Amino acid sequence: MFRERFLGRLSPKVRSQLDAWQEAAEVLGEVHDPRVLASLGPSGVRGLLLHRGKQGVPTGVKAHHTAHFDWQYPHDQPEMAELYRRAKAGQWDADDLPWQTSVDPLNPELLLLPADFVDLDMAFDMGIRLDETEWRRFGASIAGWMLSQFLHGEQGALFAAAQVTEAVPSFDGKLYGATQVMDEARHVEVFLRYLETKLGGLYQVNDNLFVIIDALMADSRWDMKFLGMQIMVEGLALGAFGVLYKVTAEPLLRALLAQVIQDEARHVHYGVVALRDHFTRELGEAERREREDWALEVSLLMRNRFMAYEVYEEWFEHKMSRAQWRRFILASPGMEMFRTVMFSRLVPNLREIGLLSDRIRPRYEQVGLLRYLNGASADRLTGKDMLDELDAERARELTPGAP
Ligand SMILES: [Fe+2]
Ligand SMILES: [Fe+2]
Repeated sequence: MFRERFLGRLSPKVRSQLDAWQEAAEVLGEVHDPRVLASLGPSGVRGLLLHRGKQGVPTGVKAHHTAHFDWQYPHDQPEMAELYRRAKAGQWDADDLPWQTSVDPLNPELLLLPADFVDLDMAFDMGIRLDETEWRRFGASIAGWMLSQFLHGEQGALFAAAQVTEAVPSFDGKLYGATQVMDEARHVEVFLRYLETKLGGLYQVNDNLFVIIDALMADSRWDMKFLGMQIMVEGLALGAFGVLYKVTAEPLLRALLAQVIQDEARHVHYGVVALRDHFTRELGEAERREREDWALEVSLLMRNRFMAYEVYEEWFEHKMSRAQWRRFILASPGMEMFRTVMFSRLVPNLREIGLLSDRIRPRYEQVGLLRYLNGASADRLTGKDMLDELDAERARELTPGAP
C-alpha cells in the first residue's frame, strides 16, 4: 500500500526507471547456477544497469579467446566441408534486392505486421484509445523495433563469426566460418539499409540482447561462443525471421528475409555440427552441465524478457505502467506466435547437441518448452525447406477453408 502511494507520487519516467532496476535484479536473481551467474553477471550489470548499449557511443568489449592455428591444414570435418561448398555457391549481392520498392508502413494493404498482432480489445479495456492510423503507426514501430534488434543481433553475429573462425579447432570449420563472416556483413547491410531508407531510422539495442552479446564476446571458450551465437541467438533469430517472412505483406521485406533465412539456416547447421561431437564426446560431464544450465537460463531470458520497452517508452510511458505493458505485450497474439516458432526451432537443436539430458528436462517441462523436443534439428532442414514450409502455411492462412 505504502509502495503504491510512494510510486504514485513519482513521475512516469522515474517510476519506469525504478521498475527497470527491479526487473534487472529479478533477472540476475533468477539465475541459479553460480557459474552461469559468473558468466552473465558482469554483462548483466553493463547492459541492464548501466545501459552501455544506449549511451550513443561505441562500446569496447575485451575479448579473451585463443586463436587456434593449425599448420597441417587437416581435412577434418566432411560435413563442414560440404557446408563450405554450399555457402560459397549461396553467396548473393544485397544490391540485387528490389530496393526500388516504395514502402509505406501505413498502407493497410501492405502492412509490415498484421493488424491483429496485438489484442485491440485488451488495449481498449486498459483504457488505450488510438484511432486506426495510430494503430498502424504503432504496428510500424513494433516492426521497426524488431528489425532493429535483428540488426543489432547481426552485428553481434558478425563479430562472433569472426571470433569463432579464429578460435574453432577444426580447419574445415575455419573455412566455413569465413563465409559466415561475409554472410553476416551482408545481413547488417540489408537490415540497416531497410531501416534507414524505408522506415526512417532504428531503435537502440535492447538491454537483454546487449547482455547476451556482451557475454559472448568476452567469453574465452570457443564452444560457448558457438552455443550462444550459433545455436541460441541465430536459432531464435531464424525462427523470428520465418514468422515475419510468413506474416508480412510488404514485398521488399519478404524478399530480403527469404535471402537471409537461407544463410541463417546454414549458420545454425554449422553450430549443430561444431558442437554435437564436442558436447557429447569430448567435454567432461561437469562442463557439459554448465553449458546445459547456461542454455536454459539464456532461453528464459530471451523468452521472458524481450518486452519492447523501447516502443513502450515511445508510445505508452505516460499512459500505463511497465507492469501493464508487460501484460499487454505478453498477451499479444503476434508475440505469442513469435515465441512459439522461435522455441520450436531452438529446442530440437539443444537436444541434438546433447544439452537436454534427463536432468534438465523437467525444468523445460515446467516452463512449457519441452513440447518442442521432437522437432527437426537444423542439420536436417535447409533454408529452402523452411521457405517452402512457410509459403505453404501462408497460403493456407490467406485462404481460409483450404486444407
Ligand atoms: Fe545473420
Ligand atoms: Fe547468422
